[in-house]
Amino acid sequence: MKLDSTISAVVTGGASGLGAATAKALAAHGVRVAIFDLSGEAAREVASEIGGVAATVDVTSDDSVSAGFLAARAAHGQERILVNCAGIVGGARTIARDRETGQISHARLDSFEQIIRVNLIGTYRCLSKSAAGMAELLPLGDDERGVIINTASIAATDGQIGQAAYAASKAGVVGLALPVARDLAGDCIRVNTILPGVIGTPMMAGIPQGIKERLEDAVPFPKRLGRPEEFASLVLEICRNPYLNAASIRLDGAIRMAAR
Ligand SMILES: NC(=O)c1ccc[n+]([C@@H]2O[C@H](COP(=O)([O-])OP(=O)(O)OC[C@H]3O[C@@H](n4cnc5c(N)ncnc54)[C@H](O)[C@@H]3O)[C@@H](O)[C@H]2O)c1
Repeated sequence: MKLDSTISAVVTGGASGLGAATAKALAAHGVRVAIFDLSGEAAREVASEIGGVAATVDVTSDDSVSAGFLAARAAHGQERILVNCAGIVGGARTIARDRETGQISHARLDSFEQIIRVNLIGTYRCLSKSAAGMAELLPLGDDERGVIINTASIAATDGQIGQAAYAASKAGVVGLALPVARDLAGDCIRVNTILPGVIGTPMMAGIPQGIKERLEDAVPFPKRLGRPEEFASLVLEICRNPYLNAASIRLDGAIRMAAR
């Protein structure tokens, strides 16, 4: 897909980190970008910087996502690109042992369910609603109608201690890509997945300096955290390259996460 001002895009989680870098990179190529984010104020800031539009959207809510697409399409027309970046992390071990009493308790499922709701179901909700609109569009060159890019994580395969919910949610995002690409192939819509390693975004800002240095040291090459612009650059290439479909691409400097 040629990226220019005839194309519009929706970026979920576009108020921050990987989504914001993606929104900026698409806009730099003339693409009309709508940002969906739970944080409406931050979304509006990024949108005003790039001449795009913003909608306060909670990807766990059907009504909220539908309203977001209505607003985005009213402003820019039907999107041909959807980039799903909205996501949350959370850590909890499967069982916990009380230090004083020695009592063992099982995991609390409310946090597990919320991570699945946002990262996995939220991704599927947005892509399904987006694809339904894309399928109505006239095809471009190569007969393509649209492209969907989902954000998983290397935790999908290298989940660490305490990451059961996050890893399961991201493995789900990887797992749905092939069947969805097959579902949408007849409508000429591609679906690809990026599995970022450790990228320096606000999501990572909370980690202590010592752990950050250990993570950087664990990356074979280049020995540093990834940059949001490197993620955005891969999004652009996936949009441009019509033969990339149902691909899962690690973007991780060759890191393989240890158990902790
Ligand atoms: N940063 C990394 O190292 C890394 C690594 C692997 C995968 N990822 C994934 O990349 C994606 C983006 O991460 P990031 O590092 O840019 O994080 P981030 O926290 O900077 O951005 C995530 C954005 O998602 C939004 N969001 C959260 N819940 C939402 C909801 N229910 N509805 C709508 N928006 C919601 C947040 O408000 C935020 O703006 C996430 O899916 C994350 O799991 C990040």
